Amino acid sequence: MILDLAESTKTINERTVKKVPTLRGRTVVNLFFEPSTRTRVSFEIAQKRLSADSVNFSVSDSSISKGETLVDTAKNLSAMNPSVVVIRHSVAGFPHRLAKLMDASVINAGDGFHEHPTQALLDLMTIRERKKEIKGLKVAIIGDIARSRVAGSNIPCLTKMGAEVTVMAPKTMLPFDVTRLGVKVAPSLKDAIKDKDVVMLLRIQTERDAATRFPSLREYNRYFGLKLEHLKYLKKDCIIMHPGPINRGVEIDPEVADGPFSVILDQVANGVSIRMAVLLLLLGGRSIYEVSD
Ligand code: CP
Repeated sequence: MILDLAESTKTINERTVKKVPTLRGRTVVNLFFEPSTRTRVSFEIAQKRLSADSVNFSVSDSSISKGETLVDTAKNLSAMNPSVVVIRHSVAGFPHRLAKLMDASVINAGDGFHEHPTQALLDLMTIRERKKEIKGLKVAIIGDIARSRVAGSNIPCLTKMGAEVTVMAPKTMLPFDVTRLGVKVAPSLKDAIKDKDVVMLLRIQTERDAATRFPSLREYNRYFGLKLEHLKYLKKDCIIMHPGPINRGVEIDPEVADGPFSVILDQVANGVSIRMAVLLLLLGGRSIYEVSD
């Protein structure tokens, strides 16, 4: 339903005047406790294109810096009666906790190592645009599977939609019981990418403890980085994805990230449409979908 509605919201994003009045009078608070470019900006653009009032909460300028707890902050924001709160936080599960404290709808914009649901949805939208159907597709996800919230949402989302997912990473970056996620594990990069419809690279998260999981970034690039020399193993219509931000020359080389197989900027563009669809469904309910249908 979200993917179908996002196809409709995409048409708004392609107009000269990219604005509809649907969410006029609704307030959305954006709470980003971790850095973000794509998610934060696309949520704000989505809100503005739907005519919602966006409030961007700056953590460093807030009373959190004076010692106010997150729970008190949440209760105080809730007292101002927003319709939606979008939150990114380093603690897994914090959006869920926030949802219990507030009357507003809470959207998880990435919680620690756990999940990044709207990223998985925009990834699915990008795949569906190119491949028409998710069911039966062969998808490789390469990188820090254990600590990537993008993998945390994409693996259940893709398998639920009927794709066959193969993962590949240094052993230190695979969950202990990885096959319980319903995925296959490839022994090498070549095996992982061969005959796949989609190859998704994950960022090495040096701001967390990723760099302690392998000897050096250079070695990671040598064994796990996608390079020009690997393109000969890809299916002709394979698409290469990356959630961003890219570490060029680590998990993906610049020539591949900017090359003809890459749909990385399509993913970014679809982020606005997906986030518009999620906001519409939360605030307008199922009737929004039925009207657009
Ligand atoms: N893909 C993603 O979450 O990017 P940002 O961290 O820039 O939001």
